[in-house]
Amino acid sequence: MRAVTWQGHRRVAVEEVPDPILKEPDDAIIRITSTGLCGSDLHLYETLGPFMTPGDVIGHEPMGIVEEVGADVATLRPGDRVVVPFQIACGHCFMCERGLPTQCETTQVREYRTGAALFGYSSMYGAVAGAQADFLRVPHAGYGPIKVPEGPPDDRFLFLSDVLPTGWQAVAYAGVGADETLLVLGLGPIGDMASRIALRQGIRVIGVDLVPERLVRASSYGVETIDLTQVDDVAEEVRSRTHGRGADAVVDAVGMEAHGSPVAEMVQRFAGMLPKSMSQPMMRRGGIDRLAALHTAIDAVRRGGTLSLAGVYGGQTDPLPMLTLFDKQVTLRMGQANVRRWVDEILPLLTDDDPLGVDTFATHHLSLEEAPRAYADFQDKADGMVKVVFQP
Ligand SMILES: NC(=O)c1ccc[n+]([C@@H]2O[C@H](COP(=O)([O-])OP(=O)(O)OC[C@H]3O[C@@H](n4cnc5c(N)ncnc54)[C@H](O)[C@@H]3O)[C@@H](O)[C@H]2O)c1
Ligand SMILES: [Zn+2]
Ligand SMILES: [Zn+2]
Repeated sequence: MRAVTWQGHRRVAVEEVPDPILKEPDDAIIRITSTGLCGSDLHLYETLGPFMTPGDVIGHEPMGIVEEVGADVATLRPGDRVVVPFQIACGHCFMCERGLPTQCETTQVREYRTGAALFGYSSMYGAVAGAQADFLRVPHAGYGPIKVPEGPPDDRFLFLSDVLPTGWQAVAYAGVGADETLLVLGLGPIGDMASRIALRQGIRVIGVDLVPERLVRASSYGVETIDLTQVDDVAEEVRSRTHGRGADAVVDAVGMEAHGSPVAEMVQRFAGMLPKSMSQPMMRRGGIDRLAALHTAIDAVRRGGTLSLAGVYGGQTDPLPMLTLFDKQVTLRMGQANVRRWVDEILPLLTDDDPLGVDTFATHHLSLEEAPRAYADFQDKADGMVKVVFQP
């Protein structure tokens, strides 16, 4: 089959690889019909190279048709139309029972002391083959895959794999009420979707980015935007719009590769250039993130407010302004989205009148062959690209 594979720093390729086969009785094989490109894939492209091996199949936003199921999968049949969460979880362990499938104790990657295995997301997350391919092997298929009805286009449901639950969890963790203000940093797919969800809940949303098309897109549906390149101090600008207090909560939808952290960017680049035997231990113990967005979040949140981090961080020695966090009495929530935890709340919004605009959310529908260009353009924010869906 064809698959998008990681080849090195800022290099992906489309290659022929062996078709996946059932390995365990609770596996399923899915024929992919749509599969997203995520900001998290850019971390593999740019900074997480030390945890990758050339040839790794990447991607973690799959949707398609069930081809084959193992003997223990009672819930799926060949021909079912499914969306598959980006994390692999068992559904019945201590963590899964508490609505935390990202921490699943059956699939945790203990060698790296990380949470649940993820599709296509480096050795740190289990080195499981990813979803930007013709076919995908889905472990623990009795729990993850979400059956969806025939009829509507794939895009109606595809974003249940990642973008929708991630945006949903970001807003839920922010814990703001209808009369409050949420600041959303980053208006890529995640910040954009979090904004749509918050606005629907009657929350006032201020959004920040530096990409003109992303700012225009967000303001077109009601986000009050701030162009990072046009203000000296984002937090000061936010305070000026919130009675001098700051936002009631902030969603950081930027993460470890924020614009505006030149020193950390140099360190990340340097680590990426070292041989894997040196760079991997260095990243595991001494890694740092580009913290510009997180610092903005800490500054811009009001006293007693909440920071909700959806953007992925991976540093182990990040310096943080603990004095400010403690003094301002900030609540901090974060993590990968617990997909199945939120699906039942989101599904009623995926209707023909499309209140979240999922049918028109993707800016690009491309073939798998176009993956190398898509990764480069998404990284550069070129060609008005916000969300890419590959259709194998
Ligand atoms: N928690 C989860 O489960 C989960 C799921 C999916 C994605 N993510 C993470 O969410 C983040 C966003 O992903 P995405 O798909 O939207 O990708 P993205 O990279 O397109 O979005 C990031 C956006 O932040 C903007 N930005 C950069 N620096 C900024 C700054 N200092 N201030 C404000 N904006 C800034 C960029 O211009 C870009 O538009 C990534 O870190 C990704 O790994 C997390
Ligand atoms: Zn993702
Ligand atoms: Zn579990």
